Amino acid sequence: MSATPQTSAPALSPPAIAAMKGGAPIVCLTAYDAPTARIVDAHCDLALVGDSLGMVVHGMDSTLGVTLEMMILHGRAVRRGLRRACMVVDMPFGTYEESPAQAFRNAARIMAETGAAAVKLEGGVEMAETIRFLTSRSIPVMAHVGLTPQAVNVFGGYKVQGRGDARARVMADAQAVAGAGAFSVVLEKTPQGLSDEVTAAVPIPTIGIGASAGCDGQILVTEDMLGLFNDFRPKFVKRQAELGAEADRAVAAYAEEVRARSFPGPEHVFADQLKGAAK
Ligand code: KIV
Repeated sequence: MSATPQTSAPALSPPAIAAMKGGAPIVCLTAYDAPTARIVDAHCDLALVGDSLGMVVHGMDSTLGVTLEMMILHGRAVRRGLRRACMVVDMPFGTYEESPAQAFRNAARIMAETGAAAVKLEGGVEMAETIRFLTSRSIPVMAHVGLTPQAVNVFGGYKVQGRGDARARVMADAQAVAGAGAFSVVLEKTPQGLSDEVTAAVPIPTIGIGASAGCDGQILVTEDMLGLFNDFRPKFVKRQAELGAEADRAVAAYAEEVRARSFPGPEHVFADQLKGAAK
């Protein structure tokens, strides 16, 4: 096990995030690398190294192929970019569902090797025992209920969760993870009214993604919000920029200049001889 080179923990701890329940909205975004983490850190309370990195960075079709090693590698990079925001790393599919002991072993590796303050795992009532096991053994847990993308094959797609009969299930899941000691819970793609009811019912912060402005906080995938990820465009994403189009324009301009031999220009190359004191 190799320790992260970072020594001082970011200022916002999981208990500090939990204490924000009912106060100013908790601002969260994903980060998968150090430069993005630096930008997120300047404006957000919590940075999530989400397993969405499998789709966004590695071009996978779902999050199911993401490994513990991938999460640790990206987690180490993100940690180097954070000073203030609470850092949470997702536990990937297949690394925690088997037993509380399996979850502890893998969560401990994530914590020790990345410097994260907490892990996130998907699931409600069925994961409560595992969450209790981890939290009572020094591993803070952020829970994730509603649409849990690792269960996409069970749901038959990335569908809204919690309409009709499923309403009670989402409420029971949120209450179970809160009762098991999670310090916060992500509510993904749950109807607005239900999201507000859950927020009122549980003592821990709810972090919405496609849920409700009434949640205690919000999270999005940063690349979705910046317009950098175009494979699909969820209704719940509000794009604050179109960086994908801007990057496309820049790469096209570079390619044209290289082909025209107008790049590099005289200001980008080095003289054979130094003239006077000039370098
Ligand atoms: O993997 C992820 O990015 C998430 C989110 C809640 C955004 O789980």
